[in-house]
Amino acid sequence: MIHTRISGTGSYLPGEPISNDTLIAAHKLDSSNDWIIERTGIRQRHLAPVNVASSDLALEASRRAIEAAGISAADIDLVVVATSTPDYIFPSTAALLQHKLGITNGAPAFDVQAVCSGFVYALSIADKFIRSGSHKRALVVGAEVFSRILDWKDRGTCVLFGDGAGAVVLEACDAPGILATALHADGSHHGILSVPGHVCGGTVIGDPLLRMDGQAVFKFAVRVLAEVAHEVLDAAKLTAEQIDWLIPHQANVRILAATAKKLGIPAEKCIVTVENHGNTSAASIPLALDESVRAGRVKRGQTLLLEGVGGGFTWGAALLKF
Ligand code: UT7
Repeated sequence: MIHTRISGTGSYLPGEPISNDTLIAAHKLDSSNDWIIERTGIRQRHLAPVNVASSDLALEASRRAIEAAGISAADIDLVVVATSTPDYIFPSTAALLQHKLGITNGAPAFDVQAVCSGFVYALSIADKFIRSGSHKRALVVGAEVFSRILDWKDRGTCVLFGDGAGAVVLEACDAPGILATALHADGSHHGILSVPGHVCGGTVIGDPLLRMDGQAVFKFAVRVLAEVAHEVLDAAKLTAEQIDWLIPHQANVRILAATAKKLGIPAEKCIVTVENHGNTSAASIPLALDESVRAGRVKRGQTLLLEGVGGGFTWGAALLKF
């Protein structure tokens, strides 16, 4: 039987960190460092310069993941990028990344758009490719430049998000690996977190910036993150006590704490990196994973529960032996 394992991780944050106070001053926001830290846990974020796109961030994160996996880019036979802020409408960011990495073997490359659940969606899809036997080494990336879709006059959203990328290399192997994944969506909640417009021929159609009902998102997130965690634990016949690390989408420390509490997982077992980079949407889970691996916290053989929730609404989880 073919299984899938993560053989390397990488991540990348653009430029220098921007503190809450610097952001507040730059955009003349009616906000404070204390409010942002107390309500979100966020202390800083990284914002990409205008000439840097998602594929550029993805490239750096991917190079690090490929190096960590001890392979070369030419060995990759599938490229999946989770992003809601692609470089172009088309081609996909994955195709651009494939080219930037110098992969010329014709490996399929495509984007997955599931907002903050995007990385878990992409991981689950790539796992299915590998377990089917059709592909052996997948590059799975979450990359975002959310700074492009923020309304810098909306203090309720612009302080929350940042830019970045995280990547993993997945490889076919004899033993698990990825134990279970679960994906869900309910489009009836599209209105509580969306970018309800776009720019067409230089004309703005609708509202092309991120809009959110923060409290509605908060309540929805905590409920479904607990539900989907139980779903993958049940599928793998494991209990929450057997989890070494909970690595949720990094949106807000209060959501992370409430989710861990609901699952009965001690706070010390919940990876929290949101304070350093804000909410980087699809990039946040692989960023948190890579940071924890490189810090020596997440180790080989440990059991990890990755889970995300985001616009759509979408949500999902992946349970795995690292
Ligand atoms: O990937 C998923 C993405 N989204 C999320 O994860 C967001 C989930 N939601 C949240 O994290 C929280 O709801 C927020 C951090 C967005 C807001 O925290 P809250 O505790 O739910 O605050 P609130 O929306 O109830 O607002 C409380 C007050 C309001 O003022 P009034 O009406 O009480 O006078 C807001 O206008 O805080 C005000 N406020 C701010 N004040 C200072 C909102 N944003 C700010 C701000 N600085 N940046």
